[in-house]
Amino acid sequence: MRLLVVGGGGREHAIVAALRREQPDAALYCAPGNPGTAPLASNLPIAADDIDRLADAADAYGIDLTIVGPEQPLAAGLADRLRAEGKRVFGPVAAAARIESSKAFAKDVMAAAGVPTASSRTFTVEADALAWVDQHAEPLVVKASGLAAGKGAVVCATRAEAADAVRAMFGGSLGSAGQEILIESFLVGEELSVFAITNGRDVVLLPSAQDHKRLLEGDEGPNTGGMGAYTPVAIATPALLDRALHEVIHPTLAELERRGAPFRGVLYAGLMIGPDGAPSVVEFNCRLGDPEAQAVLPLVTGGFTELCWAAAAGESLPPIATSGHAAVTTVLAARGYPDAPEKGAEITLPADPGPGVTIFHAGTRRGDDGLLRVNGGRVLAVTAVAPDFEAARRASSAAAEAIQFDGKQYRRDIGWRETARRAGPSEDPQITQMNSKR
Ligand code: AMP
Ligand code: GLY
Repeated sequence: MRLLVVGGGGREHAIVAALRREQPDAALYCAPGNPGTAPLASNLPIAADDIDRLADAADAYGIDLTIVGPEQPLAAGLADRLRAEGKRVFGPVAAAARIESSKAFAKDVMAAAGVPTASSRTFTVEADALAWVDQHAEPLVVKASGLAAGKGAVVCATRAEAADAVRAMFGGSLGSAGQEILIESFLVGEELSVFAITNGRDVVLLPSAQDHKRLLEGDEGPNTGGMGAYTPVAIATPALLDRALHEVIHPTLAELERRGAPFRGVLYAGLMIGPDGAPSVVEFNCRLGDPEAQAVLPLVTGGFTELCWAAAAGESLPPIATSGHAAVTTVLAARGYPDAPEKGAEITLPADPGPGVTIFHAGTRRGDDGLLRVNGGRVLAVTAVAPDFEAARRASSAAAEAIQFDGKQYRRDIGWRETARRAGPSEDPQITQMNSKR
């Protein structure tokens, strides 16, 4: 089998590692990849959003299945292009990827499908948005409709903050992504990332995870792409996942199919679980989460390749096997992340990061001198897998501590909600894998 993974971050390193475990003899390529994927796959020097050259590479290397990691190439039509050329691709066509690339579209799909989400209004004129802010109670959430690399949502405690966010977005702070905005009501609860691998109709759930979007410990500081993740999450009970499937995932897939845009790939539902236990949608993504993939994929013990293979072509989905262990992922970011990350610092990795620990590369680069250097905002993601959550948490933190580079930022409290739950009244942290058909 000949496989191509598109992307060069920590998520793509985790995808490449999962494929390589299952397919020791496959011809595996990664475009552009990173120093972490290099020992596992042939890195191709093609940017993840260079649709023409990726399509040419799929041809030239006789690729049987392309797995697309990030959202940009999907929104730009990579899956459409490969499908039009008769190729198998895991990832939705652009019309279905709009569920992430246009929050206004996602709200419209949810309204039509009766999917619970925060009430919202869409604006393309600044004065209209400001007038609306003036007449509504805080807190409010101001969001760019377009893709903004995790920086497009501003939670505003006051109307003055909301007005500032509106002005900044229309003023161009997020480029064209912020020329259409949404203002939505604030949802109270706990967030959960649910990953539905789908052929457009049927679904296999990966273990659900919890992300840590804020930069600083205690969930303080600015939103980021994600500073850490863990799985399993005790609140992701079979009953809750059943509700997520029947109230969120299946109605959304049905509505996309009705609109002529069946979704094949990973539909990632970012849910808020309210105090009453009801799920509502914060956002949809058209791909695996980063860093959630680095936590979830190391738990897969078989069937990932076959699942992607079948979903890509709309065929019936085989099951996937997971170990049932816990995984905790700690992201190491560069000084200045998320606003202005500094590049260039030399990285020293420990000779032995510890049992069950994998260091996934994201923003790293190996120079001509052979040294590993910081090359982006999120630099590395350290995942520890253990039968027990607390052991995984300690091992992940210890490995993050042992990695050295100037300006290193990381959170020592990844999974704090789970730790708190364990200290309190006990809840059964059920393993969350489920299959379902509409
Ligand atoms: P988004 O870009 O839509 O994923 O939002 C980024 C983050 O902002 C989410 O993960 C939440 O932590 C927060 N957020 C977004 N929308 C809301 C909302 N309506 N209520 C509360 N928090 C929100
Ligand atoms: N970690 C959040 C995301 O991938 O969107």
